[in-house]
Amino acid sequence: MPESTETPSGPLPHLLILGATSDIAQSLAVAYARLGHAQTLASRDCQRLQPLADRLVREFGHAVNLVEFDALRFDSHGDFYRGLPSVPDIVICVFGYLGDHDRALADFDECRRIIESNYVGVVSILNVVAEDMRRRQRGTIIGVGSVAGDRGRRANYLYGSAKAGMAAYLSGLRQRLVRDGVHVMTVKPGFVRTRMTAGRDLPARLTAEPDQVAADIVRAQRKGRDVVYTLWMWRYVMLIIRSLPETLFKRTNL
Ligand SMILES: NC(=O)c1ccc[n+]([C@@H]2O[C@H](COP(=O)([O-])OP(=O)(O)OC[C@H]3O[C@@H](n4cnc5c(N)ncnc54)[C@H](OP(=O)(O)O)[C@@H]3O)[C@@H](O)[C@H]2O)c1
Repeated sequence: MPESTETPSGPLPHLLILGATSDIAQSLAVAYARLGHAQTLASRDCQRLQPLADRLVREFGHAVNLVEFDALRFDSHGDFYRGLPSVPDIVICVFGYLGDHDRALADFDECRRIIESNYVGVVSILNVVAEDMRRRQRGTIIGVGSVAGDRGRRANYLYGSAKAGMAAYLSGLRQRLVRDGVHVMTVKPGFVRTRMTAGRDLPARLTAEPDQVAADIVRAQRKGRDVVYTLWMWRYVMLIIRSLPETLFKRTNL
């Protein structure tokens, strides 16, 4: 395992972004590069990361590593992490899969892909990351979940239940690692204008651009927050939605 890039007087913490072709991830990469962080970008297809890597080198002058990563290849995660060119100090799990809910109700392959992409894959890779950070007694783990995990809704409860599992996992991990100097942050975006929501009619006031989400994540991480909703008003929207009794909630169109 190579040595960490973080030293008291040396470079800023090294960042690993998992699912770096995501629109939110690309905004995160730029936001962290602007602050001076060197990065490793991981995705299923490194070729698609090359334009972003070129931009980070050209505009910010930071070294960028590109590595192949598939969240569903659980058996590969240990070797993937041990083979990284730089030990990451901040790991951001951005990958996710919305899928086709209606199709998934009848097609278990699609159903399983939703559950494994948003929950099992997260647990598989973060178990490895968490153990390394626990051993080193430092680090930051950020998981991008969703407000969909706060309450199951008829339109997307397969995706939502996987994100709920992810949130519970991160909560437990946070409590386990706090005494080891490892910070675990859960991110709960509401609507975000990305490839995932392309073509959907989203309410303008409740919809964020990827750059806004990235700015919220960076700010919250630097303040050491545990759970961040983005846009901020989703915290209150979900507070109301969560507080509705089931007898009432089951009859709504929420
Ligand atoms: N957009 C929203 O409204 C919204 C709201 C709440 C939460 N989120 C969450 O935000 C995160 C980022 O999503 P986004 O909106 O930026 O959408 P996106 O652009 O569609 O990004 C999804 C990313 O997940 C990656 N991915 C999917 N399956 C993978 C796998 N098996 N292995 C590796 N990578 C995989 C995709 O890689 P490929 O490019 O290879 O497909 C892509 O980079 C997701 O976790 C999503 O659930 C989004």
